[in-house]
Amino acid sequence: MSLLEVEDLRLRFGGLLAIDGLSFSVEEGEIVSVIGPNGAGKTSAFNCVTGFYRASSGRLALRGENLLGLRPSAVAARGIARTFQNLRLFGELSVLDNVRAGAHLWLRQGILDALLHTPRYRRSERECTEQAHHWLDFVGLRGDRYGAARNLPYGEQRRAEIARALARRPDLLLLDEPAAGLNQGEKAEMLDLIRRVQGLGIAIVLIEHDMGLVMDVSERVVVLNFGQKIADGRPDDVRKDPAVIAAYLGSEAHA
Ligand SMILES: Nc1ncnc2c1ncn2[C@@H]1O[C@H](COP(=O)(O)OP(=O)(O)OP(=O)(O)O)[C@@H](O)[C@H]1O
Ligand SMILES: [Mg+2]
Repeated sequence: MSLLEVEDLRLRFGGLLAIDGLSFSVEEGEIVSVIGPNGAGKTSAFNCVTGFYRASSGRLALRGENLLGLRPSAVAARGIARTFQNLRLFGELSVLDNVRAGAHLWLRQGILDALLHTPRYRRSERECTEQAHHWLDFVGLRGDRYGAARNLPYGEQRRAEIARALARRPDLLLLDEPAAGLNQGEKAEMLDLIRRVQGLGIAIVLIEHDMGLVMDVSERVVVLNFGQKIADGRPDDVRKDPAVIAAYLGSEAHA
């Protein structure tokens, strides 16, 4: 059984089939990249898997258990965490509190404990803070973790968002263009971070336009074009695939 199974997924926006019969799977601990021209349906696919969009039809399962129709919080509780193409940190909250919010999901305190400030509540708050520091260390955050998240440099915000996702203790991490807007040095660090996340036994699905990064880090590459999968295989095979080359050339000619 695969960790994630996506089968014949369809997503319709009015007259547009944003995802058109998409099937792919992710194995435990694997790194899979999803690539394709702008508007191919990559982010929409993430949104379906994580419950932000409700697919029109198809099958979605984590370790054989249905995900279709679940709300984002329920999907997260089952072990799938994500980051967003457009960062979604709580800008006014401190960096630390952003990551604590991720850890909270995992700790699941009772509301009564929180209201009564029981010893159990205080212990779990302490643990939450320790976890948040741990994950900020893990992603290599250098900026001020007590300051507002919006004050962090862009590349650091990307890392903080990954820390928040990791604090949820996922089995599967979905990263939507984690290297977008990063400089070469930051990209190299991102590559290293992705490998270290895999080292924790976490499977990763990566949406990325930087082909160097994709070819370097992926064990498998899935290519989308106009909502359909046009290739799925090892990076070396996919980069030589005529359908993939045509899709990219087509989109460039279009632009
Ligand atoms: N909420 C929405 N309402 C209507 N159309 C949408 C919505 N979200 C996405 N789309 C459309 O679905 C298609 C796929 O969009 P999506 O954002 O998934 O592409 P993408 O592959 O992530 O592109 P990019 O590389 O530019 O991020 C596009 O035509 C887009 O305009
Ligand atoms: Mg996108």
